[in-house]
Amino acid sequence: MAAKVISGTEVAAQIREELKKEVAEMKEKHGVVPGLVTILVGKNPASVSYVTGKQKTAHELGFYSMQDDQPEDIPEADLLKLVDKYNKDPKIHGILVQLPLPKHINEKKVLSAIDPDKDVDCFHPVNVGRLMIGGSEARFLPCTPAGIQELIVRSGFETSGAEVVVVGRSNIVGKPIANMMLQKGRGANATVTVVHTGTKNLEAHCRRADILIVAAGVPHLVKPEWIKPGACVIDVGVNRVGEKMSEKTGRMVPILKGDVDFDAAKEIAGAITPVPGGVGPMTITMLMKNTVTSAKLAAGIR
Ligand code: GUN
Repeated sequence: MAAKVISGTEVAAQIREELKKEVAEMKEKHGVVPGLVTILVGKNPASVSYVTGKQKTAHELGFYSMQDDQPEDIPEADLLKLVDKYNKDPKIHGILVQLPLPKHINEKKVLSAIDPDKDVDCFHPVNVGRLMIGGSEARFLPCTPAGIQELIVRSGFETSGAEVVVVGRSNIVGKPIANMMLQKGRGANATVTVVHTGTKNLEAHCRRADILIVAAGVPHLVKPEWIKPGACVIDVGVNRVGEKMSEKTGRMVPILKGDVDFDAAKEIAGAITPVPGGVGPMTITMLMKNTVTSAKLAAGIR
């Protein structure tokens, strides 16, 4: 039987509706408007597209939001000053510095300069530590892992006691999602295995997974025979493998492939996310959720 397709587009739309109401209520009852700044250094096309999507969503939800474009050759010291300016701006509750940064800038230094209470990406070492401790310590959840967890929960998969296999050990997805899935609580309490480029038998580990989360950045790495029948498969891969003409706009658009061979895998899995339209739309939505959380914490709203 074909798998249930988990639509991140639909789930994200639901959560955005919930957030829109919450933002309107915050404005009306408390006079608080969540504020988000996205800082983009240079003009990397993928980064421009991500940041544009983040700004568009923030506007739709009624945020105070601004895009701060900086030249590719901005000195590191100037970027640090800019971050500090937003750290001190009471109208701004979330600061996002789009990655990757140019080579002459130390990414770790910039991420560590963001006030942890405004770090809506959850990349600051303090927030990574809070996430590791878990429970109420973690005030923000990193956006892509939070989106993944929400998709699993809303698709009705039981995570408690489940075998979760994470393919990939990046700081943005693999490590944090593994950490989140092993915590006690909603959408977690799982037995977690992380596999990576040093793993000897990738296939054998994947075959054991009740929930398989793939964030390797390798197009169609996971073959259908690696999937346990009925498993929940979350494909985080967004690999640009070429370009095509859009029938709607007549413009060239990227051809995207996931890390999982969707067409073949959906005949075996119990549920699966598509690419695009799976995890992607959830990432921006969780960023908005973190910004709302940050604004509430700053204003003392429960
Ligand atoms: N580049 C790719 N993904 C992300 C993300 O989630 N946050 C930031 N800041 N940069 C990114």
